[in-house]
Amino acid sequence: MKILVIGGAGYIGSHVTRAFLDNGHEVTVFDNLSTGSRENLFNEAGFIHGDIMRPEQLREAMSRGYDGCVHLAALKAAGQSMLEPAMYAKANICGTVNILEAAMASGIGTVIFSSSAAVFGTPRYLPIDEAHPKDPENFYGFTKLEIERLLAWYDRLKGLRYAAIRYFNAAGYDSLGRIRGLERNPENLLPIVMEVAMGIRKELSIFGGDYPTRDGTCIRDYVHVTDLAKAHVQAFDYILSHDSSLSVNLGSEVGVSVREMLDAARQVTGREIPARVVERRPGDPAELVASSKHGADLLGWKPVHSSLEELIGSTWKAYQTERQ
Ligand code: UFG
Repeated sequence: MKILVIGGAGYIGSHVTRAFLDNGHEVTVFDNLSTGSRENLFNEAGFIHGDIMRPEQLREAMSRGYDGCVHLAALKAAGQSMLEPAMYAKANICGTVNILEAAMASGIGTVIFSSSAAVFGTPRYLPIDEAHPKDPENFYGFTKLEIERLLAWYDRLKGLRYAAIRYFNAAGYDSLGRIRGLERNPENLLPIVMEVAMGIRKELSIFGGDYPTRDGTCIRDYVHVTDLAKAHVQAFDYILSHDSSLSVNLGSEVGVSVREMLDAARQVTGREIPARVVERRPGDPAELVASSKHGADLLGWKPVHSSLEELIGSTWKAYQTERQ
């Protein structure tokens, strides 16, 4: 099948592109390279340098004929979204409207959307399943939820079939070392820990040591990006065979604290990784853990690369190869 991966040069997008290629699909990446990088492009995939804010570029790209599209093009810094809501609304919500309109005009009826656990906000219960109330804590999460609602309306009004895949904490790198671009100025825990291990940063700031958790630091559900990427292929197959849309929460279902991640990273890297507890970061819930049961039942999805050793080991390998 022919697939257009919008945002395919980014961290998650490049792994998703890899998964579609590995499963025998023909892939073209559409990306403006604002946060994605050329190093993340593969020779076997086509590339269109384009922007989702330019409807004519989307229309031109989509007119080349695709069986489905994956949409991962978005701004994703939750903190920044609280300061610059208009920027996030335009890029994420308006950008999606442009994609949907171009897809409809080109007869592309299937869209796999990169959503987030951020649509749920502070958990009312754990693990978080699909029935959990959706009440985002930050504007970024609000944009993801609005896009899910847009998709549901396009399903109803225009016959679009979509998958909303809600990632918990995506981490890790392709274990075969085929993804070469590291994120610039990473804001997530594991890449920051790696930068400290490499000596690029002096120390890790642990945001809060007094949470009501087993060691006082926040607990998250880290899931390997290769496992997440596979789910996009499975969701595409599901939509083709069932002609129906779906929304799934995907995580490893294992909660790991910041200190546990740090200790495991010290083990895997053999580096000291200096760290210091600082103030809490606003908007951080104490604990987030997914229920992935629905994804398992519907898609047969299961995380097979999401052990702490593989999450950290594959990331460490990527950092050592690219940043020596
Ligand atoms: N953390 C630190 N120090 C740092 C960076 C992070 O202590 O320098 C802590 C955070 O406080 C948090 C944990 O590490 O407790 C993970 O933080 P990340 O910033 O890596 O990830 P978040 O859980 O904040 O958010 C991520 C994605 C969101 C997504 C969410 C879903 O960035 O888009 O996971 O669980 F919505």
